[in-house]
Amino acid sequence: DPALFDTIVNLSKRRGFAFPSAEIYGGFRSTYDYGPVGVLLLRNVKDAWWREMVQRRHDVVGLDAAILSPPAVWEASGHLESFTDPLVDCTSCKERFRLDKLEDPDTCPSCGAKGSFTEARQFNLMFSTQAGPVAGSGATAYLRPETAQGMFVDFAQVMTAARKKPPFGIAQVGKSFRNEITPGNFVFRTREFEQMEMEFFVPPDEAEEWYGYWCRERFQWYLDLGMPEDRLRLRPHDDDELSHYSSGTSDVEFLFPWGWDELEGIANRGDYDLSAHAAASGEKLDYFDQASNVRYTPHVIEPAAGVTRAAFAFLLAAYDEEEVRGETRVVLRLHPRLAPYKVAVLPLSKKPELTGPARAVFASLADRFMCDYDETQAIGRRYRRQDELGTPLCVTFDFDSVDDGAVTLRDRDTMEQERVPIEGLADVVADRLGL
Ligand code: GAP
Repeated sequence: DPALFDTIVNLSKRRGFAFPSAEIYGGFRSTYDYGPVGVLLLRNVKDAWWREMVQRRHDVVGLDAAILSPPAVWEASGHLESFTDPLVDCTSCKERFRLDKLEDPDTCPSCGAKGSFTEARQFNLMFSTQAGPVAGSGATAYLRPETAQGMFVDFAQVMTAARKKPPFGIAQVGKSFRNEITPGNFVFRTREFEQMEMEFFVPPDEAEEWYGYWCRERFQWYLDLGMPEDRLRLRPHDDDELSHYSSGTSDVEFLFPWGWDELEGIANRGDYDLSAHAAASGEKLDYFDQASNVRYTPHVIEPAAGVTRAAFAFLLAAYDEEEVRGETRVVLRLHPRLAPYKVAVLPLSKKPELTGPARAVFASLADRFMCDYDETQAIGRRYRRQDELGTPLCVTFDFDSVDDGAVTLRDRDTMEQERVPIEGLADVVADRLGL
């Protein structure tokens, strides 16, 4: 449904998920700010990933490497040479395009001119800047275009410090930067974005097996977080699509309003990265297996996902409208693990005899869950607002609550209401959320 795109963009702005950055100055080139609920959604996506990829595994450890990095890293990784897009300009309307994205390389999609494109130039997507006050090549720094290189450069250091041996992985979540020629589709493609990447180092003869394993694991992760199966697919790359480092890649794709597009790539990178950094730095980036007396350079299987892109897809998948008593109810059926707020505490009126104890209920729940508290407007409108934020449960404190020590628990999906004692409420909530 193409209209869904605008619906989500509008809801995002209205409810505080995401909106254009620096809007009071007219915005800034496809950059976005994540508002009060957007920041929670992003955090929940990252936490869900970290929980699955690091916390629940004995064979993966974390890393938080620097964003600023010296040219040597990107020289060795191949990014200075190969991380480029072919760029053409229309000589008629002066618009700029990625050659490989043009539907018809003879016709300008903007002004319709025929044969008006310049020769293609390779445009490097990395942002560079200066470290320190003295300009010059010694001071050039790059903003990382992927988090992955941190794991390769630190491979030996992390393996020793964490006392791991292949097969094991290093995971990292953080911002990456690419000077995309054609950012767009809301937060799908931006110049500043967040990634969740894991480099899994394996004995060379196990690479194929682990590649299949991680394709299945990563696909299942989206399903477990509520993505409908018919809007998700795993697509192996054709040979001519493969990145400069990859001997095999599959994408987890989501059915976006404009069609199937990439959520995450799982790549078999072979020993490309460790070998390149070992050769360039002169350091040993390999593993000596004492049991078999063999020294080898591990191969790498890499599941690389986008935080902001996944959050957008989860919003699209969760959006639902239904008729309730002649009115349209908008509800985000987000998985409880992803929902920005788990519970909203709503006193029925603004009278102090209700707001006082309602805030005490909020305080007891907020100790364990991210909660919202809202005491203005009619209760029906407050429920609708929480539905639009995807809040799985609402707790209403009414006049009876003062006497019976119980509250009404309302379910987002069924809208069913139930009386629950305040004593032990947090356990009931945890149980309902299944967290
Ligand atoms: N280390 C491998 C790597 O970075 P990638 O396919 O270029 O692979 C991985 O990026 C993921 O990062 C993508 O699947 C996407 O989710 C996210 N991503 C990449 N470029 C992005 C951009 N410009 N805006 C938003 N997300 C992006």
